[in-house]
Amino acid sequence: MNNQPSSPPENIADPGRILLVDDEVNITRALRRLLASCTDYEIHTATSGSEGLELLKTMPAFALIISDQRMPQMTGVEFLQHACQLHPETMRILLTGYADINASIAAINQGAVYRYLSKPWQDDELLATIDEAMKHYQLTQENKRLNALVAQQKEELEQWNQRLKQRVMEQTNQIRAKSDSLAEKNQRLRNSFNETIAIMAGLIEMRDRKVPGHARNVAELVATMAEGLGLKGDEINRCRAAAQLHDIGKIAFSDELLRINPQHLDPGQMLEYRQHVIRGQAAIDPVPELRELGVMIRHHHEKFDGSGFPDGLAGKNIPLGARLIAVGDFFERKLHDFVEAAAYDEALLVIEAEWGTRLDPALKKVFKSAAAEVFSVMDFSATFIERKLAPIDLEEGMQLLHNLYTGTGVLLLKKGTIFTAENIEAINRIYTLDPFERDISVLISKKSP
Ligand SMILES: [Fe+2]
Ligand SMILES: [Fe+2]
Repeated sequence: MNNQPSSPPENIADPGRILLVDDEVNITRALRRLLASCTDYEIHTATSGSEGLELLKTMPAFALIISDQRMPQMTGVEFLQHACQLHPETMRILLTGYADINASIAAINQGAVYRYLSKPWQDDELLATIDEAMKHYQLTQENKRLNALVAQQKEELEQWNQRLKQRVMEQTNQIRAKSDSLAEKNQRLRNSFNETIAIMAGLIEMRDRKVPGHARNVAELVATMAEGLGLKGDEINRCRAAAQLHDIGKIAFSDELLRINPQHLDPGQMLEYRQHVIRGQAAIDPVPELRELGVMIRHHHEKFDGSGFPDGLAGKNIPLGARLIAVGDFFERKLHDFVEAAAYDEALLVIEAEWGTRLDPALKKVFKSAAAEVFSVMDFSATFIERKLAPIDLEEGMQLLHNLYTGTGVLLLKKGTIFTAENIEAINRIYTLDPFERDISVLISKKSP
């Protein structure tokens, strides 16, 4: 494929071809003799207008026609008018006697003739006029050739541009298709990453049932605060994932350690309890993508005044993600402490005393709006009431107030468990096999039907 503009087109006519038309052969002979010295010219003759037109039709274009005016059948002006229609660019000179001057002037005015020369002519004047006419013709031809060249190059450039545009579009489409497929794969990876984090968070909750939904609530609060601080999407997601996994190190706790409130641990148990931040970091450290989360997990029990663990970091030396998790973790736990009353308002009062000591005071403002946003939909501010229900009357979302045992004393569900369709079905099934004597105490929101 040739993508370069081609070479210029060849000349359209031979610039030296001259046609002499006169019914008097002597005149054409005399002219031929006069022009014989000019080797650049190729001379043709005709003895009438009609013969001249025939030559014009059959031969390549002439540069110049010199025609006598006074000829039988067809005058010179008539012949030159026809010639003009056949070859408008050919130069035309009329030879005329004194009596035909007016016809010659009219012919010039109509554009049929370039010049007229009177007979008998002056050789010098005739040669100079022919030379001038030939130059005029050559100039016109050169101009035409250049115009054609410009038009051709323009068209080729347009085609070239068109092809280029098409190729760019094809490549753009290919890149877009690849980018779409990459984006889809990335989305799948992101989804499976999020699902893996959620599964891991679920495992933590299966071990530590004291505060159902804790990791999920902390993650939601942390992500909303991060958003409020203006962090970017990826940074928000990392903070959210770290918040979901912040207590993953507790999986290794004994059942006893899990059961005791941290405030009531003895020194040995406290030592063990504090290990959960380091174990949490170590658990996910083998995965390079999770290492940054590991750092946040390690420091989520640091306190702003430097009195926390494991490293006693203070102020801004505590990674921002860890400071956010500390806020979310503290507040969410407090909500569970007050679950039977106006938990949300009580927890807000408690956290007020922690800014600047345990928690970063710079996060207070963003926390308040995030908490209002996250927990308003969770209805923590509603008061809860206690009800005693038969297994058949249990509903999803209710919370078990005391440990639930079967009729023969096997622990069925721990207190604090939120009822789901699955565990309600399991309780009803076991109730028919090993019925318990008393109704089940549950906490339900006053807003529940
Ligand atoms: Fe923790
Ligand atoms: Fe926690």
